[in-house]
Amino acid sequence: MFGRRTGEPSAPKLAGPPAAAGAAPPKSAPAAMKQAQSAKTPANSAPAAPTRVEIAETKRRHSEEYYDVKTTVFNALIDTIDLTQLAKLDGAAAREEIRDIVSEIIQIKNVVMSIAEQEELLEDICNDVLGYGPLEPLLARDDIADIMVNGCNTTFIEVGGKVQQTGVRFADNQQLMNICQRIVSQVGRRVDESSPICDARLPDGSRVNVIAPPLAIDGPCLTIRKFKKDRLKLENLVKFGSISPASKTILEIIGRVRCNILISGGTGSGKTTLLNCLTGSIDMEERIITCEDSAELQLQQPHVVRLETRPPNLEGEGEIKMRDLIKNCLRMRPERIIVGEVRGPEAFDLLQAMNTGHDGSMGTLHANSPREAISRLESMIMMGGYALPVKTIREMIAGSVDVIVQASRLRDGSRKITHITEVCGMEGDVITLQNIIVFDITGQDANDKIIGRHRSTGIARPRFWDRAEYYNEEGRLAEALAASEARDANGNPMGDQNG
Ligand SMILES: Nc1ncnc2c1ncn2[C@@H]1O[C@H](COP(=O)(O)OP(=O)(O)O)[C@@H](O)[C@H]1O
Ligand SMILES: [Mg+2]
Repeated sequence: MFGRRTGEPSAPKLAGPPAAAGAAPPKSAPAAMKQAQSAKTPANSAPAAPTRVEIAETKRRHSEEYYDVKTTVFNALIDTIDLTQLAKLDGAAAREEIRDIVSEIIQIKNVVMSIAEQEELLEDICNDVLGYGPLEPLLARDDIADIMVNGCNTTFIEVGGKVQQTGVRFADNQQLMNICQRIVSQVGRRVDESSPICDARLPDGSRVNVIAPPLAIDGPCLTIRKFKKDRLKLENLVKFGSISPASKTILEIIGRVRCNILISGGTGSGKTTLLNCLTGSIDMEERIITCEDSAELQLQQPHVVRLETRPPNLEGEGEIKMRDLIKNCLRMRPERIIVGEVRGPEAFDLLQAMNTGHDGSMGTLHANSPREAISRLESMIMMGGYALPVKTIREMIAGSVDVIVQASRLRDGSRKITHITEVCGMEGDVITLQNIIVFDITGQDANDKIIGRHRSTGIARPRFWDRAEYYNEEGRLAEALAASEARDANGNPMGDQNG
Protein backbone atom coordinates (compact mmCIF):
# COMPACT_ATOMS: atom_id res chain seq x y z
CA MET A 1 0.00 0.00 0.00
CA PHE A 2 2.99 2.20 0.06
CA GLY A 3 3.23 1.80 -3.69
CA ARG A 4 -0.26 3.20 -4.03
CA ARG A 5 0.67 6.61 -2.84
CA THR A 6 4.18 6.98 -4.21
CA GLY A 7 2.90 7.49 -7.72
CA GLU A 8 4.07 11.04 -8.19
CA PRO A 9 4.42 11.38 -11.97
CA SER A 10 7.82 13.04 -12.05
CA ALA A 11 9.35 10.88 -9.30
CA PRO A 12 12.00 8.52 -10.68
CA LYS A 13 11.62 4.84 -9.88
CA LEU A 14 12.84 3.78 -6.51
CA ALA A 15 16.38 2.61 -6.72
CA GLY A 16 15.97 -0.27 -4.30
CA PRO A 17 13.54 -2.22 -2.22
CA PRO A 18 11.89 -0.48 0.72
CA ALA A 19 14.26 -0.34 3.64
CA ALA A 20 13.89 -2.60 6.61
CA ALA A 21 13.00 -1.05 9.93
CA GLY A 22 15.01 2.07 10.46
CA ALA A 23 17.60 1.21 7.82
CA ALA A 24 18.53 3.41 4.90
CA PRO A 25 15.28 4.66 3.43
CA PRO A 26 14.44 4.50 -0.28
CA LYS A 27 16.04 7.22 -2.26
CA SER A 28 15.84 9.15 -5.52
CA ALA A 29 13.28 11.74 -4.65
CA PRO A 30 13.82 14.94 -6.62
CA ALA A 31 14.76 17.04 -3.64
CA ALA A 32 17.08 14.32 -2.50
CA MET A 33 18.74 14.14 -5.88
CA LYS A 34 19.71 17.75 -5.63
CA GLN A 35 21.44 17.17 -2.34
CA ALA A 36 23.01 13.97 -3.50
CA GLN A 37 24.54 15.74 -6.43
CA SER A 38 26.10 18.30 -4.24
CA ALA A 39 27.63 15.52 -2.18
CA LYS A 40 31.04 14.07 -3.00
CA THR A 41 30.05 11.02 -5.02
CA PRO A 42 28.21 11.76 -8.24
CA ALA A 43 24.76 10.25 -8.10
CA ASN A 44 23.73 10.74 -11.70
CA SER A 45 24.07 7.15 -12.81
CA ALA A 46 20.90 5.13 -12.32
CA PRO A 47 21.90 1.68 -11.08
CA ALA A 48 19.30 -1.02 -10.60
CA ALA A 49 20.18 -1.83 -7.01
CA PRO A 50 21.75 0.35 -4.34
CA THR A 51 25.46 -0.13 -3.75
CA ARG A 52 27.27 0.36 -0.48
CA VAL A 53 28.50 3.79 -1.52
CA GLU A 54 25.01 4.72 -2.44
CA ILE A 55 23.60 3.65 0.89
CA ALA A 56 26.23 5.64 2.71
CA GLU A 57 25.34 8.53 0.46
CA THR A 58 21.68 8.16 1.27
CA LYS A 59 22.30 8.35 4.93
CA ARG A 60 24.39 11.43 4.58
CA ARG A 61 21.78 12.93 2.35
CA HIS A 62 19.23 13.62 5.03
CA SER A 63 19.77 17.09 6.29
CA GLU A 64 19.66 18.06 9.91
CA GLU A 65 16.40 19.71 9.01
CA TYR A 66 14.93 16.39 7.97
CA TYR A 67 15.78 14.88 11.34
CA ASP A 68 14.45 17.92 13.14
CA VAL A 69 11.22 17.67 11.24
CA LYS A 70 11.10 13.96 11.87
CA THR A 71 11.59 14.43 15.60
CA THR A 72 8.90 17.09 15.71
CA VAL A 73 6.47 14.97 13.75
CA PHE A 74 7.36 11.86 15.70
CA ASN A 75 6.79 13.54 19.04
CA ALA A 76 3.56 15.05 17.86
CA LEU A 77 2.51 11.61 16.69
CA ILE A 78 3.26 10.06 20.05
CA ASP A 79 1.25 12.79 21.72
CA THR A 80 -1.66 12.25 19.37
CA ILE A 81 -2.15 8.53 19.23
CA ASP A 82 -2.45 5.72 21.68
CA LEU A 83 0.43 3.53 20.64
CA THR A 84 -0.71 0.61 22.75
CA GLN A 85 -3.95 0.57 20.79
CA LEU A 86 -1.98 0.94 17.62
CA ALA A 87 0.10 -2.09 18.48
CA LYS A 88 -3.08 -4.15 18.48
CA LEU A 89 -3.79 -3.36 14.83
CA ASP A 90 -2.22 -5.50 12.18
CA GLY A 91 0.80 -4.08 10.36
CA ALA A 92 -1.00 -2.69 7.34
CA ALA A 93 -3.80 -1.09 9.33
CA ALA A 94 -1.31 0.45 11.75
CA ARG A 95 0.65 1.93 8.88
CA GLU A 96 -2.51 3.41 7.42
CA GLU A 97 -3.34 4.93 10.78
CA ILE A 98 0.12 6.44 11.17
CA ARG A 99 0.11 7.65 7.59
CA ASP A 100 -3.13 9.55 8.08
CA ILE A 101 -2.05 11.16 11.30
CA VAL A 102 1.41 12.07 10.08
CA SER A 103 -0.04 13.68 6.95
CA GLU A 104 -2.30 15.71 9.17
CA ILE A 105 0.55 16.73 11.47
CA ILE A 106 2.61 17.82 8.47
CA GLN A 107 -0.28 19.99 7.33
CA ILE A 108 -0.96 21.46 10.73
CA LYS A 109 2.69 22.18 11.40
CA ASN A 110 3.06 23.74 7.96
CA VAL A 111 6.06 21.60 7.15
CA VAL A 112 7.32 22.22 3.64
CA MET A 113 8.18 18.91 2.04
CA SER A 114 7.95 17.33 -1.35
CA ILE A 115 5.57 14.42 -1.69
CA ALA A 116 8.53 12.08 -2.04
CA GLU A 117 10.15 13.39 1.11
CA GLN A 118 6.88 12.98 2.90
CA GLU A 119 6.77 9.39 1.76
CA GLU A 120 10.23 8.79 3.17
CA LEU A 121 9.33 10.43 6.39
CA LEU A 122 6.26 8.25 6.62
CA GLU A 123 8.23 5.11 5.91
CA ASP A 124 10.89 6.10 8.41
CA ILE A 125 8.37 6.81 11.09
CA CYS A 126 6.38 3.64 10.40
CA ASN A 127 9.52 1.56 10.66
CA ASP A 128 10.55 3.22 13.84
CA VAL A 129 7.12 2.85 15.32
CA LEU A 130 6.28 -0.63 14.06
CA GLY A 131 9.52 -2.57 13.76
CA TYR A 132 12.45 -3.64 15.93
CA GLY A 133 14.85 -3.82 12.99
CA PRO A 134 18.04 -5.77 13.66
CA LEU A 135 16.65 -6.98 16.97
CA GLU A 136 13.92 -9.01 15.31
CA PRO A 137 15.95 -12.20 14.76
CA LEU A 138 17.14 -12.14 18.37
CA LEU A 139 13.66 -11.54 19.69
CA ALA A 140 12.39 -14.47 17.66
CA ARG A 141 14.79 -16.91 19.32
CA ASP A 142 13.49 -18.78 22.32
CA ASP A 143 16.86 -19.85 23.66
CA ILE A 144 18.01 -16.32 24.50
CA ALA A 145 17.59 -15.14 28.08
CA ASP A 146 18.91 -11.59 27.75
CA ILE A 147 19.73 -9.22 24.92
CA MET A 148 22.18 -6.45 25.75
CA VAL A 149 22.76 -3.71 23.20
CA ASN A 150 25.65 -1.41 24.06
CA GLY A 151 25.41 1.26 21.40
CA CYS A 152 24.82 0.60 17.71
CA ASN A 153 27.84 -1.64 17.08
CA THR A 154 27.83 -4.07 19.96
CA THR A 155 25.16 -6.53 20.97
CA PHE A 156 25.58 -9.34 23.46
CA ILE A 157 23.17 -12.12 24.27
CA GLU A 158 22.96 -14.64 27.06
CA VAL A 159 22.35 -18.21 25.99
CA GLY A 160 22.48 -21.12 28.38
CA GLY A 161 23.97 -19.04 31.14
CA LYS A 162 26.82 -17.78 28.97
CA VAL A 163 27.16 -14.28 27.58
CA GLN A 164 28.29 -14.05 23.98
CA GLN A 165 28.72 -11.30 21.41
CA THR A 166 26.57 -11.33 18.27
CA GLY A 167 27.10 -9.84 14.82
CA VAL A 168 23.95 -7.73 15.19
CA ARG A 169 24.54 -4.09 14.36
CA PHE A 170 22.42 -1.04 13.87
CA ALA A 171 22.90 1.45 11.06
CA ASP A 172 23.82 4.09 13.60
CA ASN A 173 22.94 5.23 17.08
CA GLN A 174 20.02 7.16 15.66
CA GLN A 175 18.43 3.98 14.34
CA LEU A 176 19.04 2.29 17.65
CA MET A 177 17.53 5.24 19.45
CA ASN A 178 14.51 5.11 17.18
CA ILE A 179 13.97 1.48 18.01
CA CYS A 180 14.31 2.25 21.72
CA GLN A 181 11.82 5.02 21.21
CA ARG A 182 9.49 2.66 19.45
CA ILE A 183 9.71 0.16 22.27
CA VAL A 184 9.06 2.64 25.04
CA SER A 185 6.40 4.51 23.13
CA GLN A 186 4.29 1.38 23.34
CA VAL A 187 3.91 1.95 27.01
CA GLY A 188 3.24 5.62 26.44
CA ARG A 189 6.70 6.83 27.38
CA ARG A 190 9.43 8.75 25.67
CA VAL A 191 13.16 8.47 25.85
CA ASP A 192 15.43 11.32 24.85
CA GLU A 193 18.13 13.54 26.27
CA SER A 194 15.77 15.09 28.75
CA SER A 195 14.47 11.77 30.03
CA PRO A 196 17.23 9.33 29.21
CA ILE A 197 16.20 6.42 31.43
CA CYS A 198 13.16 4.35 30.75
CA ASP A 199 11.69 0.96 31.60
CA ALA A 200 9.22 -0.66 29.28
CA ARG A 201 7.87 -3.95 28.16
CA LEU A 202 7.54 -5.63 24.79
CA PRO A 203 4.14 -6.95 23.77
CA ASP A 204 5.36 -10.48 24.49
CA GLY A 205 6.08 -9.55 28.11
CA SER A 206 9.85 -9.13 27.84
CA ARG A 207 11.26 -6.49 30.15
CA VAL A 208 13.19 -3.63 28.63
CA ASN A 209 15.46 -0.98 30.05
CA VAL A 210 16.80 1.90 28.00
CA ILE A 211 19.46 4.34 29.07
CA ALA A 212 20.41 6.88 26.48
CA PRO A 213 23.17 9.47 26.02
CA PRO A 214 24.36 11.62 27.65
CA LEU A 215 24.12 9.15 30.55
CA ALA A 216 25.22 6.23 28.41
CA ILE A 217 28.45 7.51 27.01
CA ASP A 218 28.88 5.27 23.98
CA GLY A 219 25.36 5.35 22.62
CA PRO A 220 21.97 4.11 23.72
CA CYS A 221 22.00 0.94 25.80
CA LEU A 222 19.10 -1.40 25.55
CA THR A 223 18.73 -4.37 27.86
CA ILE A 224 16.00 -6.91 27.25
CA ARG A 225 15.14 -9.73 29.63
CA LYS A 226 13.29 -12.08 27.33
CA PHE A 227 9.97 -13.33 28.54
CA LYS A 228 9.91 -17.09 28.86
CA LYS A 229 6.71 -18.43 27.41
CA ASP A 230 7.04 -21.55 29.46
CA ARG A 231 8.70 -20.84 32.74
CA LEU A 232 10.87 -23.63 34.04
CA LYS A 233 9.27 -26.05 36.47
CA LEU A 234 10.90 -27.64 39.48
CA GLU A 235 11.28 -30.82 37.40
CA ASN A 236 13.34 -28.85 34.91
CA LEU A 237 15.53 -27.48 37.67
CA VAL A 238 16.16 -31.04 38.83
CA LYS A 239 17.02 -32.07 35.28
CA PHE A 240 19.47 -29.18 34.97
CA GLY A 241 21.07 -30.16 38.26
CA SER A 242 20.05 -26.85 39.84
CA ILE A 243 18.53 -28.78 42.68
CA SER A 244 18.45 -32.38 43.87
CA PRO A 245 15.24 -34.41 43.75
CA ALA A 246 15.08 -34.48 47.55
CA SER A 247 15.58 -30.72 47.84
CA LYS A 248 12.85 -30.27 45.28
CA THR A 249 10.51 -32.15 47.59
CA ILE A 250 11.55 -29.94 50.47
CA LEU A 251 10.82 -26.81 48.43
CA GLU A 252 7.44 -28.19 47.45
CA ILE A 253 6.61 -28.84 51.07
CA ILE A 254 7.78 -25.41 52.17
CA GLY A 255 5.53 -23.85 49.55
CA ARG A 256 2.56 -26.02 50.34
CA VAL A 257 2.61 -25.65 54.14
CA ARG A 258 2.46 -21.86 53.93
CA CYS A 259 5.89 -20.89 55.11
CA ASN A 260 6.71 -17.25 54.43
CA ILE A 261 9.49 -17.44 51.88
CA LEU A 262 12.09 -15.04 50.60
CA ILE A 263 14.05 -15.96 47.52
CA SER A 264 17.41 -14.34 47.46
CA GLY A 265 19.83 -14.13 44.55
CA GLY A 266 21.80 -11.95 42.19
CA THR A 267 20.55 -10.54 38.90
CA GLY A 268 19.61 -13.33 36.53
CA SER A 269 20.30 -16.01 39.11
CA GLY A 270 16.84 -17.47 38.63
CA LYS A 271 14.87 -15.83 41.46
CA THR A 272 11.76 -15.17 39.47
CA THR A 273 11.93 -18.64 37.97
CA LEU A 274 12.19 -20.14 41.41
CA LEU A 275 9.38 -18.00 42.79
CA ASN A 276 7.23 -19.15 39.93
CA CYS A 277 8.12 -22.77 40.70
CA LEU A 278 7.26 -22.35 44.35
CA THR A 279 3.85 -20.97 43.53
CA GLY A 280 3.24 -24.33 41.86
CA SER A 281 2.68 -25.93 45.26
CA ILE A 282 -0.05 -23.51 46.30
CA ASP A 283 -3.48 -25.10 46.58
CA MET A 284 -5.94 -24.45 43.81
CA GLU A 285 -8.50 -22.98 46.21
CA GLU A 286 -6.34 -20.18 47.55
CA ARG A 287 -6.82 -16.56 46.62
CA ILE A 288 -3.44 -15.29 45.47
CA ILE A 289 -2.50 -11.70 44.75
CA THR A 290 0.71 -10.97 42.90
CA CYS A 291 2.44 -7.58 42.94
CA GLU A 292 5.14 -7.00 40.36
CA ASP A 293 7.01 -4.21 38.67
CA SER A 294 6.37 -5.93 35.43
CA ALA A 295 4.21 -9.02 35.32
CA GLU A 296 6.42 -12.05 34.82
CA LEU A 297 4.91 -14.70 37.04
CA GLN A 298 2.72 -17.35 35.47
CA LEU A 299 0.56 -18.89 38.14
CA GLN A 300 -1.41 -22.02 37.43
CA GLN A 301 -4.13 -21.44 40.02
CA PRO A 302 -7.55 -20.18 38.97
CA HIS A 303 -7.95 -17.57 41.70
CA VAL A 304 -5.18 -15.09 41.01
CA VAL A 305 -5.25 -11.31 40.92
CA ARG A 306 -2.26 -9.77 39.19
CA LEU A 307 -1.16 -6.26 40.08
CA GLU A 308 1.56 -4.18 38.52
CA THR A 309 3.27 -0.97 39.59
CA ARG A 310 3.21 2.07 37.35
CA PRO A 311 6.10 4.44 36.71
CA PRO A 312 5.45 8.19 36.79
CA ASN A 313 4.31 9.78 33.55
CA LEU A 314 6.28 12.42 31.67
CA GLU A 315 5.21 15.11 34.10
CA GLY A 316 6.49 12.95 36.93
CA GLU A 317 3.00 12.17 38.22
CA GLY A 318 0.81 9.17 38.68
CA GLU A 319 3.43 6.78 40.00
CA ILE A 320 2.08 3.74 41.83
CA LYS A 321 4.77 2.13 43.88
CA MET A 322 5.13 -1.40 45.17
CA ARG A 323 4.21 -0.11 48.62
CA ASP A 324 0.90 1.17 47.34
CA LEU A 325 0.16 -2.15 45.72
CA ILE A 326 0.97 -4.23 48.78
CA LYS A 327 -1.05 -1.95 51.03
CA ASN A 328 -4.00 -2.12 48.73
CA CYS A 329 -3.57 -5.82 48.35
CA LEU A 330 -4.21 -6.22 52.08
CA ARG A 331 -7.70 -4.85 51.54
CA MET A 332 -8.41 -7.43 48.89
CA ARG A 333 -8.72 -10.41 51.18
CA PRO A 334 -5.66 -12.22 49.92
CA GLU A 335 -4.69 -15.63 51.22
CA ARG A 336 -1.22 -15.32 49.81
CA ILE A 337 0.69 -12.30 48.66
CA ILE A 338 3.43 -12.81 46.11
CA VAL A 339 5.79 -9.91 45.53
CA GLY A 340 7.90 -10.15 42.39
CA GLU A 341 10.82 -8.20 43.72
CA VAL A 342 11.26 -6.40 47.00
CA ARG A 343 13.58 -3.46 46.43
CA GLY A 344 12.73 -0.81 48.96
CA PRO A 345 10.48 0.28 51.78
CA GLU A 346 7.75 -2.10 50.64
CA ALA A 347 9.77 -4.69 52.56
CA PHE A 348 8.05 -3.34 55.66
CA ASP A 349 4.60 -3.85 54.20
CA LEU A 350 5.41 -7.34 53.02
CA LEU A 351 6.72 -8.32 56.45
CA GLN A 352 3.60 -6.90 58.03
CA ALA A 353 1.47 -8.87 55.67
CA MET A 354 3.42 -12.00 56.52
CA ASN A 355 2.94 -11.17 60.17
CA THR A 356 -0.76 -10.59 60.00
CA GLY A 357 -2.24 -13.81 58.84
CA HIS A 358 -1.09 -13.96 55.27
CA ASP A 359 1.07 -16.98 55.82
CA GLY A 360 2.64 -18.41 52.78
CA SER A 361 3.52 -15.07 51.26
CA MET A 362 6.58 -14.94 49.09
CA GLY A 363 8.93 -12.48 47.51
CA THR A 364 12.36 -12.20 45.94
CA LEU A 365 15.17 -9.85 46.77
CA HIS A 366 18.64 -9.16 45.57
CA ALA A 367 21.35 -10.61 47.83
CA ASN A 368 24.22 -13.04 47.60
CA SER A 369 23.54 -15.15 50.67
CA PRO A 370 20.72 -15.73 53.13
CA ARG A 371 22.59 -13.70 55.73
CA GLU A 372 22.97 -10.82 53.31
CA ALA A 373 19.28 -11.11 52.44
CA ILE A 374 18.47 -10.38 56.06
CA SER A 375 20.66 -7.31 56.20
CA ARG A 376 19.30 -6.09 52.88
CA LEU A 377 15.81 -6.43 54.27
CA GLU A 378 16.87 -4.49 57.32
CA SER A 379 18.32 -1.63 55.31
CA MET A 380 15.33 -1.53 52.99
CA ILE A 381 13.07 -1.01 55.98
CA MET A 382 15.35 1.67 57.36
CA MET A 383 15.35 3.37 53.97
CA GLY A 384 11.61 3.73 54.37
CA GLY A 385 12.25 6.23 57.13
CA TYR A 386 10.62 4.27 59.93
CA ALA A 387 11.96 5.43 63.23
CA LEU A 388 12.28 1.91 64.54
CA PRO A 389 15.21 0.63 66.57
CA VAL A 390 17.28 -1.92 64.67
CA LYS A 391 16.38 -4.57 67.17
CA THR A 392 12.68 -4.09 66.55
CA ILE A 393 13.22 -4.38 62.83
CA ARG A 394 15.16 -7.57 63.34
CA GLU A 395 12.50 -8.99 65.59
CA MET A 396 10.00 -8.21 62.93
CA ILE A 397 12.06 -10.01 60.29
CA ALA A 398 12.64 -12.99 62.53
CA GLY A 399 8.95 -13.13 63.30
CA SER A 400 7.84 -12.95 59.69
CA VAL A 401 10.22 -14.77 57.42
CA ASP A 402 10.35 -18.54 57.77
CA VAL A 403 12.61 -19.66 54.97
CA ILE A 404 15.17 -18.08 52.66
CA VAL A 405 15.99 -19.87 49.43
CA GLN A 406 19.21 -18.76 47.81
CA ALA A 407 19.65 -18.88 44.02
CA SER A 408 23.05 -18.37 42.44
CA ARG A 409 24.56 -18.26 39.02
CA LEU A 410 27.90 -20.00 39.28
CA ARG A 411 31.00 -19.12 37.34
CA ASP A 412 30.36 -21.83 34.73
CA GLY A 413 27.02 -20.19 33.92
CA SER A 414 24.98 -22.87 35.66
CA ARG A 415 22.28 -21.82 38.08
CA LYS A 416 21.92 -23.58 41.41
CA ILE A 417 19.85 -23.37 44.49
CA THR A 418 22.67 -23.04 46.97
CA HIS A 419 20.80 -22.73 50.27
CA ILE A 420 17.50 -23.57 51.84
CA THR A 421 17.79 -21.74 55.12
CA GLU A 422 15.44 -21.27 58.03
CA VAL A 423 15.10 -18.11 60.06
CA CYS A 424 15.09 -19.40 63.62
CA GLY A 425 14.70 -16.36 65.81
CA MET A 426 16.87 -13.96 67.76
CA GLU A 427 19.88 -14.48 69.92
CA GLY A 428 20.51 -11.19 71.62
CA ASP A 429 20.53 -8.65 68.82
CA VAL A 430 21.28 -11.13 66.09
CA ILE A 431 18.89 -13.03 63.86
CA THR A 432 19.78 -16.71 63.87
CA LEU A 433 19.70 -18.71 60.68
CA GLN A 434 19.90 -22.40 60.16
CA ASN A 435 20.77 -24.03 56.85
CA ILE A 436 18.68 -27.03 56.00
CA ILE A 437 20.12 -27.78 52.58
CA VAL A 438 23.34 -26.40 51.14
CA PHE A 439 25.08 -26.93 47.84
CA ASP A 440 28.68 -28.07 48.19
CA ILE A 441 31.02 -27.60 45.26
CA THR A 442 33.16 -30.71 45.06
CA GLY A 443 35.09 -30.11 41.87
CA GLN A 444 35.06 -29.37 38.21
CA ASP A 445 34.76 -31.68 35.20
CA ALA A 446 36.85 -31.65 32.01
CA ASN A 447 34.59 -29.00 30.48
CA ASP A 448 34.98 -26.71 33.48
CA LYS A 449 31.47 -27.56 34.60
CA ILE A 450 31.10 -27.29 38.33
CA ILE A 451 30.32 -30.52 40.13
CA GLY A 452 28.71 -30.55 43.53
CA ARG A 453 25.90 -31.92 45.59
CA HIS A 454 22.98 -30.74 47.61
CA ARG A 455 23.15 -32.07 51.10
CA SER A 456 21.21 -31.76 54.27
CA THR A 457 23.03 -30.22 57.19
CA GLY A 458 21.67 -32.86 59.52
CA ILE A 459 18.66 -30.93 60.78
CA ALA A 460 16.10 -33.63 61.30
CA ARG A 461 13.31 -31.38 62.50
CA PRO A 462 13.19 -27.97 60.86
CA ARG A 463 11.11 -25.32 62.55
CA PHE A 464 8.34 -25.76 60.04
CA TRP A 465 7.95 -29.39 61.12
CA ASP A 466 4.69 -28.61 62.92
CA ARG A 467 3.29 -26.99 59.85
CA ALA A 468 4.35 -29.97 57.82
CA GLU A 469 2.49 -32.20 60.27
CA TYR A 470 -0.57 -30.03 60.03
CA TYR A 471 -0.57 -30.54 56.27
CA ASN A 472 0.28 -34.24 56.57
CA GLU A 473 3.61 -33.67 54.90
CA GLU A 474 5.91 -34.70 57.75
CA GLY A 475 6.54 -38.16 56.33
CA ARG A 476 7.66 -36.81 52.96
CA LEU A 477 9.72 -34.16 54.72
CA ALA A 478 11.55 -36.64 56.90
CA GLU A 479 12.25 -38.81 53.89
CA ALA A 480 13.58 -35.96 51.81
CA LEU A 481 15.80 -34.75 54.62
CA ALA A 482 17.19 -38.23 55.19
CA ALA A 483 17.80 -38.69 51.49
CA SER A 484 19.83 -35.48 51.45
CA GLU A 485 22.13 -36.48 54.22
CA ALA A 486 25.76 -36.63 53.31
CA ARG A 487 27.56 -39.70 54.60
CA ASP A 488 31.20 -40.12 55.36
CA ALA A 489 33.30 -43.07 54.19
CA ASN A 490 31.86 -45.26 56.95
CA GLY A 491 28.29 -44.43 56.03
CA ASN A 492 27.75 -42.21 59.05
CA PRO A 493 25.93 -38.94 58.57
CA MET A 494 28.19 -35.90 58.54
CA GLY A 495 26.76 -33.07 60.61
CA ASP A 496 27.14 -29.38 59.99
CA GLN A 497 27.33 -26.23 62.02
CA ASN A 498 25.12 -23.49 60.75
CA GLY A 499 25.55 -19.80 60.57
N1 LIG B 1 17.90 -23.28 37.28
C1 LIG B 1 17.99 -22.75 36.07
N2 LIG B 1 18.65 -23.38 35.09
C2 LIG B 1 18.76 -22.83 33.87
N3 LIG B 1 18.26 -21.64 33.53
C3 LIG B 1 17.60 -20.95 34.46
C4 LIG B 1 17.43 -21.47 35.79
N4 LIG B 1 16.75 -20.58 36.52
C5 LIG B 1 16.50 -19.55 35.69
N5 LIG B 1 16.98 -19.77 34.45
C6 LIG B 1 16.93 -18.84 33.32
O1 LIG B 1 17.72 -17.72 33.65
C7 LIG B 1 17.12 -16.52 33.20
C8 LIG B 1 16.95 -15.55 34.34
O2 LIG B 1 16.05 -16.10 35.26
P1 LIG B 1 15.14 -15.19 36.21
O3 LIG B 1 14.37 -16.14 37.05
O4 LIG B 1 14.36 -14.21 35.43
O5 LIG B 1 16.27 -14.47 37.06
P2 LIG B 1 16.15 -13.29 38.16
O6 LIG B 1 14.71 -13.15 38.51
O7 LIG B 1 16.98 -13.77 39.30
O8 LIG B 1 16.73 -12.08 37.53
C9 LIG B 1 15.82 -16.94 32.56
O9 LIG B 1 16.02 -16.98 31.16
C10 LIG B 1 15.55 -18.31 33.11
O10 LIG B 1 14.83 -19.11 32.21
MG1 LIG C 1 13.52 -11.47 38.44
